[in-house]
Amino acid sequence: MKHFIITGTSRGIGESIAEQLISPDHYLHCISRVKNARLESKSNNITYYEFDLNQIDQIEALMNRIFNSIDLPRTEGIYLINNASMIAPVAFIDKVNVNDLTGNLKVNLLAPIILTSLFIQHTKYVESNKRILNISSSSAKHHHPGMSLYSAAKAGLDVFSQCVGLEQNHSNTPVGIVSIWPGMIDTNLQHEARSQDQSTFPSAELFGMAKDTGMLTTPEETAHLIIDFLFKIEFEHGSVVDIFDYSKLVQQ
Ligand SMILES: NC(=O)c1ccc[n+]([C@@H]2O[C@H](COP(=O)([O-])OP(=O)(O)OC[C@H]3O[C@@H](n4cnc5c(N)ncnc54)[C@H](OP(=O)(O)O)[C@@H]3O)[C@@H](O)[C@H]2O)c1
Repeated sequence: MKHFIITGTSRGIGESIAEQLISPDHYLHCISRVKNARLESKSNNITYYEFDLNQIDQIEALMNRIFNSIDLPRTEGIYLINNASMIAPVAFIDKVNVNDLTGNLKVNLLAPIILTSLFIQHTKYVESNKRILNISSSSAKHHHPGMSLYSAAKAGLDVFSQCVGLEQNHSNTPVGIVSIWPGMIDTNLQHEARSQDQSTFPSAELFGMAKDTGMLTTPEETAHLIIDFLFKIEFEHGSVVDIFDYSKLVQQ
């Protein structure tokens, strides 16, 4: 049995990743605040954890619960997909309250860092395939006024993945880790970006144009590419990958 710990499976890309991973040989550990009952009903091999990743002091207990349920010596592979994220607050930084500011960084950066650390600890003696995919964003590089927190968190996640990649080169049983930019996808997150008031978020119009001109891909297409990448033999361990470059490679 292969095990997959996936965050943000209630909708969007995370839901599609989980749905496409359903198989008799796969066990899914799904995490989001809202339970995805539709997804859960599709397989007996799913445990759903309704969990708010803002509660960073409870992530350790969550991971203990998950790993207590896994027969580690018999696992044929174990994967962590840090996908959950929030774009809010979308506003200039002097207009953001401290609670919202820390909430963004907790969910987008601290939670995936803590999950990564605990995943590596728990799988220390596992010799089968171990991989972490951090779903990042090209927002780490392409910046918009009003998205400083989201961009800073994603840039942090990219650097974190690269550093942990270097650390894992010192392990006898390394965990592969990659940060991936998934492109522009028609999900709630995009909807939130283009629905902002232009007076507080001038780039709202750009996000609207991306939708109107058909630049957005579907969560299903994106999930397909992400899963393909996750199982790739030459996992590009320790790197930041733009899915656009990967999709061109696959098409060749
Ligand atoms: N869509 C794009 O164009 C795009 C572009 C670049 C990168 N990405 C990245 O792709 C990933 C998926 O995004 P998406 O577009 O699918 O977004 P989405 O449709 O808004 O879904 C976000 C998911 O994250 C979960 N989540 C948010 N806050 C959470 C919290 N506090 N605790 C637990 N789960 C939480 C949500 O579940 P609950 O609300 O139920 O908790 C939901 O399942 C993100 O990492 C995003 O940054 C997306």
